[in-house]
Amino acid sequence: MNYSFLNILFIFCFFSFAGWCLEVVYRSTRDRKYVNPGLLKGPYLMLYGGGSLLLVFCISMFHDSGLFFKILIYFTAITGLEFLSGFMSVFLFKTKLWDYSDQWLNFKGHICPKFSFYWILLALVFEYFIYPLFNNLILWVPSPIQTTLGLIFFSIMFMDFLIILKRRFFMAIDNSQSRHEYLKDEFFNIANELFEMPEVQKLSTYPHHRHKTRLDHVTEVAWFSFILGKRFSLDCRAIVRGALLHDLFYYDWLHEGPRLHGFRHHNIALKNARAIVNLSPKEADIIKRHMWPLTIIPPRYPESFIVCQVDTFCSFKDYFVTGSGSDLLKQRMYSHE
Ligand SMILES: [Fe+2]
Ligand SMILES: [Fe+2]
Repeated sequence: MNYSFLNILFIFCFFSFAGWCLEVVYRSTRDRKYVNPGLLKGPYLMLYGGGSLLLVFCISMFHDSGLFFKILIYFTAITGLEFLSGFMSVFLFKTKLWDYSDQWLNFKGHICPKFSFYWILLALVFEYFIYPLFNNLILWVPSPIQTTLGLIFFSIMFMDFLIILKRRFFMAIDNSQSRHEYLKDEFFNIANELFEMPEVQKLSTYPHHRHKTRLDHVTEVAWFSFILGKRFSLDCRAIVRGALLHDLFYYDWLHEGPRLHGFRHHNIALKNARAIVNLSPKEADIIKRHMWPLTIIPPRYPESFIVCQVDTFCSFKDYFVTGSGSDLLKQRMYSHE
């Protein structure tokens, strides 16, 4: 049977509604209370609408194929659609609409053999019982009514979808902003003690990389290392303190200071840092090993390794990347009160 675009729209809307009814019955029976499935407010599930169009396409393509081949096609198409929809709902809406995590051989909770088997059964029922009935319905319902119903239903569904998408999108932005504020507060709770010391503030009078002062540099290294430290659940206090003190020396290393600065300044920084604060073994290691592999002996702690790598990354970035966002970081850092 050949369908027009408006027929396709009608199929999509009809089965979105039929799928919603099926899920309401299944979930409400299982949970013994009324459950509105899906994220949208209205009585429709777009996954079923999309799934039915996929099945209609498969039926028209493989109508004369053997049963085993059809089962294989249905399994691939519907399980693929289910995985894609599960993945997209987490990606777009940060929500798992279903979760098969407790099912045997599930994959990321999105798909599992048990429900793929159910979908194959449903697809066969669809092909041999529902689809023929639906074709009669399409012939029976006058075309203008199909068009009107399809357009109204689809418009409502689409608006509903856009409203939820917009709401979730702004919610995600709010979450990431409040997470950033939270991290910034934690960072400054650790760093302020050092930022208030004149010996550390003095670093703002020394150039370090291109147009960046040494205080800019150590702040940037401390912040990025702190973010990584949080990601890997490391000792972030040691990371921030060690990183802020890792270049605590008072000369313009491009024009003055000891010979072989690269091989020696970590010891100078360590000595200067010990003169102003008590360092833990980890903080001392962060400062002493930050020039590895120039200093041969590798870092002892993962925290030291992270600061060492971030220091190298920031140095490269300062020389080779323009508009790297460091000004933004500086603005954020120093705007904190
Ligand atoms: Fe350094
Ligand atoms: Fe450095």
